[in-house]
Amino acid sequence: MTIIDTIQTRRTIKAFKPDAISEKELNTWLEAASYAPNHRMNEPWELLFIGPETRAALNHKTDFGGAPVLIGVLSKPAASQMERDENVMAVSCYIQNFMLAAHEAGAGVFWSSLGATVRGREILGAPQEHDVIAVLAVGYPAEIPAAKQRTPIADKITYLP
Ligand SMILES: Cc1cc2nc3c(=O)[nH]c(=O)nc-3n(C[C@H](O)[C@H](O)[C@H](O)COP(=O)(O)O)c2cc1C
Repeated sequence: MTIIDTIQTRRTIKAFKPDAISEKELNTWLEAASYAPNHRMNEPWELLFIGPETRAALNHKTDFGGAPVLIGVLSKPAASQMERDENVMAVSCYIQNFMLAAHEAGAGVFWSSLGATVRGREILGAPQEHDVIAVLAVGYPAEIPAAKQRTPIADKITYLP
């Protein structure tokens, strides 16, 4: 797949096969994602591997589509609001890289915001100053949804003088 194909064929996956993902392969995607742009090379992402007890406590309505792996992704605190925002941006780039690497390998990811709620943060034990960016459900897709159409980019462009 070209990078354009990989970007355009990735989908949010909401139904997973129970098949395990090898630790080695998962690690390859997580490492590759670290090449995300990040200001001052502060690599603001931190990962929580979510075990069965924590998963049960999260009590997601579909149990994350039966995904075999759940990873919480946190963004490190910062000294100013601007740096904090930049950390969140860099972590989002990290997640997109991860999702594309997984997709290229035939796996799929569901980005859930559940961990960012007050209750979700408590269950994950997120430190007060950290932002919870995602709970990522990862596995092999049982169903691949159709693409959701995007607005033509021309509609989003303003030309400045
Ligand atoms: C910051 C962020 C939070 C999201 N949170 C949720 C969520 O809580 N539940 C959900 O069903 N999808 C969530 N999504 C996935 C979007 O719904 C999905 O990306 C969008 O519908 C486009 O579909 P696609 O990823 O298949 O192109 C989230 C995506 C992002 C970027």
